[in-house]
Amino acid sequence: MNTVTVSLAERSYDILIGESLLADAGAHLAPVLPQKRAIVVTDETVAAHWLALLEGALAAEGIRTEAITVAPGEQSKSFPVLATLMSELLQLRPERKTALIALGGGVIGDLTGFAASICLRGVPFVQVPTTLLAQVDSSVGGKTGINTPEGKNLVGSFYQPKRVLIDTATLSSLPLRERRAGYAEIVKYGLINDAAFFGWLEANGARVAAGEADALAYAIEKSCRAKAAIVAQDEKESGVRALLNLGHTFGHALEAECGFSSELLHGEAVAVGMQMAFDFSVRLNLCPAQDAERLRAHLKHVGLPASPRAIRPAWDANRLIAHFHQDKKVQDGALTFILARAIGEAFVARDVYEGDLRGWLEGML
Ligand SMILES: NC(=O)c1ccc[n+]([C@@H]2O[C@H](COP(=O)([O-])OP(=O)(O)OC[C@H]3O[C@@H](n4cnc5c(N)ncnc54)[C@H](O)[C@@H]3O)[C@@H](O)[C@H]2O)c1
Ligand SMILES: [Zn+2]
Repeated sequence: MNTVTVSLAERSYDILIGESLLADAGAHLAPVLPQKRAIVVTDETVAAHWLALLEGALAAEGIRTEAITVAPGEQSKSFPVLATLMSELLQLRPERKTALIALGGGVIGDLTGFAASICLRGVPFVQVPTTLLAQVDSSVGGKTGINTPEGKNLVGSFYQPKRVLIDTATLSSLPLRERRAGYAEIVKYGLINDAAFFGWLEANGARVAAGEADALAYAIEKSCRAKAAIVAQDEKESGVRALLNLGHTFGHALEAECGFSSELLHGEAVAVGMQMAFDFSVRLNLCPAQDAERLRAHLKHVGLPASPRAIRPAWDANRLIAHFHQDKKVQDGALTFILARAIGEAFVARDVYEGDLRGWLEGML
């Protein structure tokens, strides 16, 4: 087992990473559960695979659990599902010391973390991520929230978990497409500030995406360390944390156009978005073309899309630009993108000139 610490003074916590940790979840979680009772929140798909194992392991340590199950999918990150979840929670009469355990992907983690932050004005929670995306990204860092008709993740809170328990064995039931999508967020860390890690991924990435245990464990730990380091510097995203949005402004616009449906998974959108960020950086003479080509070759190698046209034959540049303006990074009306000077050298570009962007987008689309 490997441990990565997220250093945030009194809100610091450990990420435990290893194969089959769920079988010992009682021992791994007991130190951070303030009472011998916890409420597990999960989705139907994950429950079918992993809930009994988790509840059994907690029971073995004398920890009593109740479970609440929501429907799988992004639609569960919504006010209606949150409202139902809150009343189911409150009917179980939780106390301030009753922890919530988020067992599932990013949807469950974001929803449960937000519920924990508002239940009784805050109960403890732990993350037990079961998708690759959640294990390398969403379960770490304390961003929680839901979507509204106005946009994704616009309602939420910063609320850190007490612990993150990553069992790589849970990925055995994850469909290949979901695993690949999560892999895109791993590539992101190499692109942001770790060219050597990107090099390692070029050599080993296919093994990670295919789910080979040793390669997976290494990539997950590297990713958690990278995210923990950035979050420790800038918990509430006033500066450097914005780098984690590499590929996300472009990606979100594509996801929004697809109605956040399974036509385009979040990680797939991030893959395309990262390639767009590199291509746009090349267009602005900020980044050598060979770096963008290396990224394109790597995405192709692991079976991820690298162009909007790989998703749909045609896109409307005006509609994409309208989405860019909805981005949470917009400051005083000016667009902000994460661009790159090279692989491993991403930076925050404020005040991107819309004319440059439009010209390049129209040409590409
Ligand atoms: N909070 C953050 O910092 C952060 C960061 C990145 C993404 N996110 C959010 O994460 C969400 C996406 O997360 P996701 O990709 O994990 O999606 P998800 O939670 O919807 O999981 C994807 C699918 O896989 C299923 N699943 C989960 N674990 C499984 C397993 N082990 N075996 C079989 N099936 C399994 C789920 O039921 C679901 O159908 C988005 O809402 C995104 O906004 C949040
Ligand atoms: Zn993401």
